[in-house]
Amino acid sequence: MTEISSNIKKFDVEEVRKLFPVLHQKVNGKPLVYFDNAATSQKPIAVIEALKTYYKGYNANIHRGIHTLAEKATKAFEDTRKRLSSFVNSNEVEEIIFTKGTTESINLVASSYGRKFINEDDEIIISGLEHHSNIVPWQLLAEEKGASIKVINVLEDGTLDFDHFKSLLSDRTKLVAVNHASNSLGTINPIKEIIAVAHEVGAKVLIDGAQGTAHLEIDVQELDCDFYALSAHKCYGPTGVGALYGKRELLEAMPPYQGGGEMIKEVSFEKTTFNDIPYKFEAGTPNIGDVVAFKYALDFIDDLGKENIASYEHELYTYAREKALTIPGLRIIGDSSNKVSVLSFVIDGVHPFDIGQMLDASGIAVRTGHHCTQPLMDHFQIEGTIRASFAVYNTKEEIDRMIEALQRVVKFMKA
Ligand code: ALA
Repeated sequence: MTEISSNIKKFDVEEVRKLFPVLHQKVNGKPLVYFDNAATSQKPIAVIEALKTYYKGYNANIHRGIHTLAEKATKAFEDTRKRLSSFVNSNEVEEIIFTKGTTESINLVASSYGRKFINEDDEIIISGLEHHSNIVPWQLLAEEKGASIKVINVLEDGTLDFDHFKSLLSDRTKLVAVNHASNSLGTINPIKEIIAVAHEVGAKVLIDGAQGTAHLEIDVQELDCDFYALSAHKCYGPTGVGALYGKRELLEAMPPYQGGGEMIKEVSFEKTTFNDIPYKFEAGTPNIGDVVAFKYALDFIDDLGKENIASYEHELYTYAREKALTIPGLRIIGDSSNKVSVLSFVIDGVHPFDIGQMLDASGIAVRTGHHCTQPLMDHFQIEGTIRASFAVYNTKEEIDRMIEALQRVVKFMKA
């Protein structure tokens, strides 16, 4: 028996599925198959119950009141910060800032760190695999400051050209921003090596962890990344909440991102002094209920174990890949061996959108289109792909259903 299958035995997917109420429904008359997990994952009952418990039992504003509900809400909110700090292994709890999600975390760094530390003629390196949210904030910054953006080439198998990356680095490089895993293709990037090489020229590194958090081990101290951005909703938590990890010395050197309540120490019309981290970056009433519930998503992941999750999802992906390759005219985009569980493909002569609609008619949810990575689609000279992204509650039987539906589509199109 392989190591992978003995790991999988440690949890039972049918038991896992019972924890996700949304999975147990019919869509268009067929049992739902949810393969759009890279867009957003479903939520376990513990997360849903935590939201209900918060709003039914102790909704109150945090850090401000001294009454019992306010203290209870504050404690629950700060418990999630502690939980997330241990989840990513930050050195200090204060290095975790709550945001609306990965996009806001990246914008925070571009706006605050970027405005202060990136200047004319400086260079920012991103990769050809990036989501628009790890492209556009840097373009806005570069335009404002007269800096320029360099892009790491993508190879035919959807991996990054590391030699090209090294050739782009110089003492002008001030920041490197790359994803942990590609949302469109699933490629896992060698971020530890990227960070080490970028540091040699004195550049700081931001990792877009949106697609990494649910699947990959994250140890920000071992990685030595300067910033790590993530979203709760991609890892079984609620929408509208995410976080930015940043090294203390950087966060302390950065100006506030937004002005408002909570981020100040003292305000007068002459001068305002700012709060300590993390509160300096958390202006206004945060998304308390969702932050509180996020902790239960992290517990869910750790209860199953990242290694077990990765093994099971890898098995699902390998199974899906093999079956998909038997479909005439199907081409996998980004077929490298080191991937999270994302199967992105095109089928000759059929528009991805049509395939998405036909799959939906069979109760199967996938994403079709450019996946907010238009430059990557241009690179492969395609309009978009069909993307099936798997999570820990998916099964091989569901993959069989998708493959059968795709076979019907191809047959129908050829008829
Ligand atoms: N970034 C999300 C996706 O890849 C929305 O679908």
